[in-house]
Amino acid sequence: MARVLVVGSGGREHTLAWGLARSPEVSEVISAPGNPGMAEIGECRPVDVEDPNAIAALAGAVDADLTVVGAEVPLVAGAVDALEARGRLAFGPRADAAHLEGSKAWMKEVVAAAGVPTARHRAFGAGEHDAAFAFLDSLGAPYVVKTDGLAAGKGVAVVASLDEARDAVRAYLSGDAFGAAGRTLVIEEGLVGPELSLLVLCDGRDAIPLQPAQDFKRIGDGDTGPNTGGMGAYSPVPIATREVVDEVMAKAVRPTLDELRRRGIEYRGVLYAGLMLTNEGPKIIEYNVRFGDPECQVVVPRLASDLYRHCVESAAGRFETEVRFLDDAAITVVLAAEGYPSSPRTGDVIEGLDDAEAREGIVVFHAGTKRDGDRLLTAGGRVLAVTATAPDLATARTRAYDAVAGISWPGMQYRRDIALAAVADQP
Ligand code: AMP
Ligand code: GLY
Repeated sequence: MARVLVVGSGGREHTLAWGLARSPEVSEVISAPGNPGMAEIGECRPVDVEDPNAIAALAGAVDADLTVVGAEVPLVAGAVDALEARGRLAFGPRADAAHLEGSKAWMKEVVAAAGVPTARHRAFGAGEHDAAFAFLDSLGAPYVVKTDGLAAGKGVAVVASLDEARDAVRAYLSGDAFGAAGRTLVIEEGLVGPELSLLVLCDGRDAIPLQPAQDFKRIGDGDTGPNTGGMGAYSPVPIATREVVDEVMAKAVRPTLDELRRRGIEYRGVLYAGLMLTNEGPKIIEYNVRFGDPECQVVVPRLASDLYRHCVESAAGRFETEVRFLDDAAITVVLAAEGYPSSPRTGDVIEGLDDAEAREGIVVFHAGTKRDGDRLLTAGGRVLAVTATAPDLATARTRAYDAVAGISWPGMQYRRDIALAAVADQP
């Protein structure tokens, strides 16, 4: 029986811990640093998630048979390399492959070399304001300006006017907006169309697409207001047909993995393809090197095969077990704190969680909570992800929102339109 260490403390990591604990081969799931939801699954241990050596040392101390690293920061910093250097099996890409998310300029260069459909783009560095402005002039609205480096999902400006785009260029290049992460930036053509997240399991040789999901990035109903980490998701996605997935695998994911291999880089773990389904076909917006959050909260509950097996086989470089999904649909509604995303308020008492969790088809994943005696407090921007599964999307949606209605704290905010259009489009 296996001991698994899950590194992270968000809704995604709670979901991974929950999915791993369901495996008949797993005896214990240890979380680091974890959250109150993960504490109900197993022990939580403190760790500095930004320190690969601390993660590797902890995996040794708890004698983990497998370590699953949830977030991009430790992956880009080399957590998997540090774990492997100590002889520990680790799920996720090594630092050389995680650079796909660590540098958008490099990702774009790889994608262009691989001939993958993506937005027209150019990268600019210190002092290149004039060249950046000239490139903006050659594009139309919407203008898209991105930090090269990691910016916790906030480094992308999608703006309607040239003035706003120029302001973003100035703020990024000066380092005022995002420090070093922004001193190199990427400007790209604005793409239009529905977005899709395709998470792909990789073992260094083979690539297996998981069921597609759709994320809701803006804070407000009808895709209004600022971008967030993601306010909800659902799966399956009616527009993401088998043909769409096959096309994305053939034209984007496999050529990208081949291009990495040509450069001596092997990709293991989850490759997250962020796509826009444009009139000209699917185009890559970005690659992430980990599960999406909150996409993970709807993809993992739909998995019929053993998540632990898949993670072990990916980490070991050899898929053997078939990936299978339930026919059930899943939806997750993120409950966020007042003031999210700019300045979330914390410390509010969460009510009604137990009743919500007792409802049919509901599991609530913790994203930003804290225990205080027998009370549960808000402790972050995204606080909970209420996930419902059901035989069809409409029923899942009703279940999720019925559960949400029973949960409250002062200032709680959430979107009312998660999966609404998809349900309305169904026959
Ligand atoms: P990213 O962090 O790269 O996922 O970007 C965050 C969000 O910005 C995406 O989910 C899209 O909604 C939007 N975005 C990024 N790149 C583009 C683009 N080229 N055209 C239109 N929207 C984009
Ligand atoms: N939900 C978007 C992300 O995980 O990057």
